Amino acid sequence: MLSKTIQEALNAQIAMEAQSSQAYLAMASWAEIQPGLDGVTEFFYLQSDEERVHMLKLVRYINERGGFATIPALAQPIITFTSLNRVFEEFLKHEIKVSKSINDLVGMALDERDFATHNFLQWYVSEQIEEERLARTLNDKLELVGDDKSGIYLFDRDIMQHRNAAAGPQ
Ligand code: FEO
Repeated sequence: MLSKTIQEALNAQIAMEAQSSQAYLAMASWAEIQPGLDGVTEFFYLQSDEERVHMLKLVRYINERGGFATIPALAQPIITFTSLNRVFEEFLKHEIKVSKSINDLVGMALDERDFATHNFLQWYVSEQIEEERLARTLNDKLELVGDDKSGIYLFDRDIMQHRNAAAGPQ
């Protein structure tokens, strides 16, 4: 059985993952109407789907442990961006926030000696290492590219390869 504190914290994490999914969906939609950003578009549609999976895992876990997963209302995310760099800066900023939240949850599970939740959260810890690494790599690449159009073309062409490399063998 989950304690009230852990249940509330896990439910807050559901909201954060759902909000991430929404934020990345907005990035995908923005990228889709820009010329030549097909790779970035697919990347964020996929990121959005993954965040929904992260959310669902939490929903199922809370309910399995005798709690009640509450499905939250969502705020409208940022929907327009002044540049591709801004999109990826937001992506990194968002993932750093998620990592902090997961770390806080892990600490809380340990404090409460809830080892099942601690164990459950390890998957998120590994996932966040990869997500942050990917976001940093892509920001570094974009910084190198600057406003160079052919660089952006190559970045867009290669982005799914970075993603697949970060995900490792499936
Ligand atoms: Fe589920 Fe990318 O945080």
